[in-house]
Amino acid sequence: MRARPKRLDRLPQQYFVALLGRVAAAAAAGGPALVDLGRGNPELGPPRHVVEALAETAARADVHGYAPIRGLARTKDALAGRYRDVYGVELDPEREIAIVPGTKTAITELALSLANEGDRILLPDPFYPDYPSGPALAGARLETVPLRADRGWSPDLEAAPDAAALYLNYPSNPCAVCAPPGTFDDAVRWAERTGGAVVHDAAYADIVFDGRSPQSFLATPGALDVGVEMWSMSKTYGMAGWRIGFVVGNAEIVERINLLNDHNRVGIFEPLQRAAIAALEGPQDSVASRVAAYERRRDAIAAVFPEPPVCEGTFFVWFRLPDGLTAERLLEEHRVAVAPGEGFGPSGAGWARLSVAVDDETIELGAERLQRAFARVAA
Ligand SMILES: Cc1ncc(COP(=O)(O)O)c(C=O)c1O
Repeated sequence: MRARPKRLDRLPQQYFVALLGRVAAAAAAGGPALVDLGRGNPELGPPRHVVEALAETAARADVHGYAPIRGLARTKDALAGRYRDVYGVELDPEREIAIVPGTKTAITELALSLANEGDRILLPDPFYPDYPSGPALAGARLETVPLRADRGWSPDLEAAPDAAALYLNYPSNPCAVCAPPGTFDDAVRWAERTGGAVVHDAAYADIVFDGRSPQSFLATPGALDVGVEMWSMSKTYGMAGWRIGFVVGNAEIVERINLLNDHNRVGIFEPLQRAAIAALEGPQDSVASRVAAYERRRDAIAAVFPEPPVCEGTFFVWFRLPDGLTAERLLEEHRVAVAPGEGFGPSGAGWARLSVAVDDETIELGAERLQRAFARVAA
């Protein structure tokens, strides 16, 4: 066998694969049952009518061939309806919406669609650990723009260099904040100044707390000229395992994603799309009750922190580790797994992310153990 192509060697270590390995090894080492708050994997599935739409469509004889290559028009219409009704954005479904098998796929495909080898791609720091993979495959150079806690985790885009693309993500994983006012306008101005594209990751668009309203980058004047948004079924409807999401916005970029789709995949299984339509167009009470559950769990866990962490949305809490405490010590001495901050970019050292996408009992146990760990280092 010849050596594997260099583009695969450029891929960084997959952070979550490594994290899952460490947590599994700690669990197997024995001791009290481990409380795993490390990975964000929605524990609440989709509402019943969505599962029924999948099952009913799958029972039909005529849906098992190749689905339309660029997706059903009905699926795109359904997402356009959500953008109109919830985020106040009018879209042309055929030109401005592409269907993808989960937005993780789009993270990579957008880098391939926007950057030549050697081009710069800007990531926020801290960033979602899956972002570097796309630039690595594209042969692009990664640089980061710092997000500062004292600016509400927004970047200083006036000082940001030019680049083929700038990725942003609000509500932020891991920072758990919504976009501070003006951030999206600054991103459009950055794109107009540099000619780079804005990629906004809206995976947690609807998971916002304390009465906030979901926001789309595409509602910003000028956004459709310069960027796209990734929109996922995974978190809003608890469909992470189903692998269905969208790239929405600038028609030229959407066309590039569709072009990769034409060559790489052959559409999305029709029953999945019918279920997505049922989710998008059916009763929305499950979204409100999911948000309420995460908000309640956030409150339960935040109460044990010496200083309450900021958490405006997502199902994560991003917190500075008290002096003397590390993610390793939490895992080994206190049997609580959290995601060490180092994996989220250069500024993540000394921080950690925990997930509240777990059941109430796990939250309660996790809160007890964290409280004990904080008390021990404070003593
Ligand atoms: C910030 C962020 N973007 C994208 C994704 C990927 O979502 P999807 O399930 O649509 O691939 C995740 C998943 O955890 C995420 O946290």
